Amino acid sequence: MNGVELRGVTKAYAGLTVMKDINLEIEDGAFLVLLGPSGCGKSTILNMIAGLEPVTGGSIHIAGRDVTELEPDERDIAMVFQSYALYPTMSVRKNIGFGLKIRGMPKADIEKRVDEIGELLQITPLLDRKPSQLSGGQQQRVAIGRALVREPSVFLFDEPLSNLDAKLRADMRVELKRLHERLGRTIVYVTHDQIEAMTLATKVVVLDKGSIQQADTPENVYRRPANKFVASFVGAPTMNFIDGKLIQDGDGIAFDGGSGQLPLASLPTRAHDLIGQPVTLGARPEHLMFDDLGANARVLLAEPTGPDQYVRLAVAGSEVTARTGPEQHFSSGTDARIMIDGARVSLFDPESGRAVL
Ligand SMILES: Nc1ncnc2c1ncn2[C@@H]1O[C@H](COP(=O)(O)OP(=O)(O)OP(=O)(O)O)[C@@H](O)[C@H]1O
Ligand SMILES: [Mg+2]
Repeated sequence: MNGVELRGVTKAYAGLTVMKDINLEIEDGAFLVLLGPSGCGKSTILNMIAGLEPVTGGSIHIAGRDVTELEPDERDIAMVFQSYALYPTMSVRKNIGFGLKIRGMPKADIEKRVDEIGELLQITPLLDRKPSQLSGGQQQRVAIGRALVREPSVFLFDEPLSNLDAKLRADMRVELKRLHERLGRTIVYVTHDQIEAMTLATKVVVLDKGSIQQADTPENVYRRPANKFVASFVGAPTMNFIDGKLIQDGDGIAFDGGSGQLPLASLPTRAHDLIGQPVTLGARPEHLMFDDLGANARVLLAEPTGPDQYVRLAVAGSEVTARTGPEQHFSSGTDARIMIDGARVSLFDPESGRAVL
């Protein structure tokens, strides 16, 4: 296969295992995002693909070639770091062309290639400046240009936008996506920002404590989280979790949270098999609906955000958050009625956290 493959990769630092049996296929042309909390092993995976960190066990393959024992510059990859790592004394032009120069490319060819990259990234007017004369976003573009110029088969990005302010980040995110669509190269991209993951990825790999929790499309990771960790890590405000059990409710099924019941509209029929056993109900804020036929709830607090509002509620003995439009006004302490869209809920095993529906 073209692309990148990790087979049974493990990593230990001084005898302490930090990555456990990582198996991952990254298809040619994919935009794969490694997502997870600090310390989960994102950079370690990237550095092992790059050859900057040796693996402890297993093997790494790039474009069908076993590169496990190869040096970074023999792997046909280019990496963009969070810190940009530009050469401060060189002009932008020299920074971008440097990788080609050390490969012995003729000067005229380098010039031509750098000019092309400058145009692609819209930094032509900046080519003769020094890095210190650029904004953070411009420096980031130069760092990307330096990676692009070598035309590797795989690009590795380690949190490339985390030093930028919110507005610039959003702009650069769009540019990166366009660039990927235009060039069609394989990208492996590390972030702990779930919005970046959701918007950029063709496939998201959610990591926790050195293990892959789920590897799937952004949509499936959001809609069908494999376990409670993924469910709570992806999505803001976070998914609501209520412990209890499913009960028969006339023809349908309801959820019994111990100190109150919640009707679940249109729960999949296979949920019948779970009636009576303890489960953790997971419901995204947008799947809690205000409905006169719903369960009794009390409004604790409403937070308008502009396009919508988050309403904190007490229902069935738990505190939950509902996301709703900005029109309706909610006063703290008043009563409301809440229905949950059963077609969209997740159910987890309370012991293992694994999704059972
Ligand atoms: N050189 C090292 N020596 C010992 N332990 C290390 C070393 N580098 C990383 N680790 C450990 O390996 C684990 C994974 O680290 P890694 O840097 O891959 O995390 P990360 O997901 O990139 O985190 P962050 O989001 O904070 O960058 C952590 O527990 C970290 O402490
Ligand atoms: Mg890191």
